[in-house]
Amino acid sequence: MSTKETLWKGRSEGKLHPLLIKIGESISLDIKLYREDLKGSYAHAKMLKNIGLLSDEEAHQILDGLKKIQKEIENQEFPLFPELEDIHTHVENRLKELIGPIAGKLHTARSRNDQIAVDTHLFVKKVSFEILNSLYRLCEVIVSRSEELMDVIMPSYTHLQVAQPVRMSHYLMSYFWMFLRDIERMMFAYQQADRLPLGVGAVAGVNYENDREFLRKELGFSDFYENSMDAVSSRDHIFNLLYAVAMISLHLSRLCEELILYSSVEFNFLEFPDELTTGSSLMPQKKNLDLAELIRAKSGRLISNLNTLMIVMKALPLTYNRDLQEDRKPLLESEEVIDLIEATILLISHFKVKEKNLENSLHQGFATATDLADALVVEGNLPFREAHHIVGMLVRICVEKSYHLGNIPKEIRSQIHPLLGNDEFYFRAIDLKLSTEKKKSRGGTSLSRVKEQIQLAKKRLTEIKSQLPEKPNLDLD
Ligand code: ARG
Repeated sequence: MSTKETLWKGRSEGKLHPLLIKIGESISLDIKLYREDLKGSYAHAKMLKNIGLLSDEEAHQILDGLKKIQKEIENQEFPLFPELEDIHTHVENRLKELIGPIAGKLHTARSRNDQIAVDTHLFVKKVSFEILNSLYRLCEVIVSRSEELMDVIMPSYTHLQVAQPVRMSHYLMSYFWMFLRDIERMMFAYQQADRLPLGVGAVAGVNYENDREFLRKELGFSDFYENSMDAVSSRDHIFNLLYAVAMISLHLSRLCEELILYSSVEFNFLEFPDELTTGSSLMPQKKNLDLAELIRAKSGRLISNLNTLMIVMKALPLTYNRDLQEDRKPLLESEEVIDLIEATILLISHFKVKEKNLENSLHQGFATATDLADALVVEGNLPFREAHHIVGMLVRICVEKSYHLGNIPKEIRSQIHPLLGNDEFYFRAIDLKLSTEKKKSRGGTSLSRVKEQIQLAKKRLTEIKSQLPEKPNLDLD
């Protein structure tokens, strides 16, 4: 049985069953919130002094004690006790050991309900700030590789079958726009968390004339929760983060899946440096892209975290219920997405392209069949249905006789349709690069459109740079 006292030993004996301690502890997770928790307590103590609930001397002792605790935690000199449940109780308990019963004054006009709320708001701000920075650099890397690979043509796919030729920069830039939207979602998550819940007490407000405006400024929030019940029971700020993280993870998993495929022998489009791959303990020939596989796999947990917390909170009556403590794991795990983004930056920065294999796939997949049909429409004045049928027959013969559009003999072509026997017409129509040049519609893969796209992307990055939030200050000062 526990040797530590609970915070409520007046009402009950305060002894807890070991299973309640085991199931109920969150300290193993929320020790990670120590900076946020200490920052919140620090601001609260200053506020109590300002409104006359703590003398200068008492406030001084408490602030000093909180700083000592921070050092102890950072020096790994802060033991954790499951029976002390959470980070708030640990801090209060240690403060009492350090400065005596005055420590008990810190909890005046405060509840652990508004305390955990402020901790998690500060944490969401910190993590979303960091994720935003990584995402921003990922977008920059994509732009720079897109500029570098402007002239490389690759197949695009639908149904994982070769569709039409695209510039590799066009392919890469498609991910730029996804990650840009992720930046926008993450900024929203930051803004929604930029709202102070502290100072509302357990549920109804507090019986003191506290100064929430002071707390807001001290803790660097832009706004307030205007309703105490909302402030202690909402976890919307966490949902916003989890949603943004889930979408990033989903995008990363799609990209990584493609990097894995494209570096396999079957595609053989890309090569990664040894440093980013692993071998097999048994098969000497192997070079595996584990890094991308791990990102693909870990994304699953980050996506399901959104669902996990939604299910925890569905139909939960107002206001605080202990169920809300289960927000902790999904919340803290969100930080992992930073490593996944950073690893993706490495993958994107370092792949080499095997252009010859891209070209082979384009040929084998008849990537310009649609262009040929369109040319028959424009230059041969054929209805599109008929042109589609003619090119379909040509492809069928290619498949039967193992040709591609570029090497099927002229005689066979002319038998299908006389215009196909006109070399000048034919080779212009099936040329890979010319095919991309014809895609001049806005958002298409022609050189001028891709250049335009990259210019717009750079402009958006510059605009966003000035809107990115500042790093939240968690120092005790
Ligand atoms: N450990 C709790 C949590 O993380 C802190 C709030 C506890 N409040 C309460 N009324 N038991 O949610």
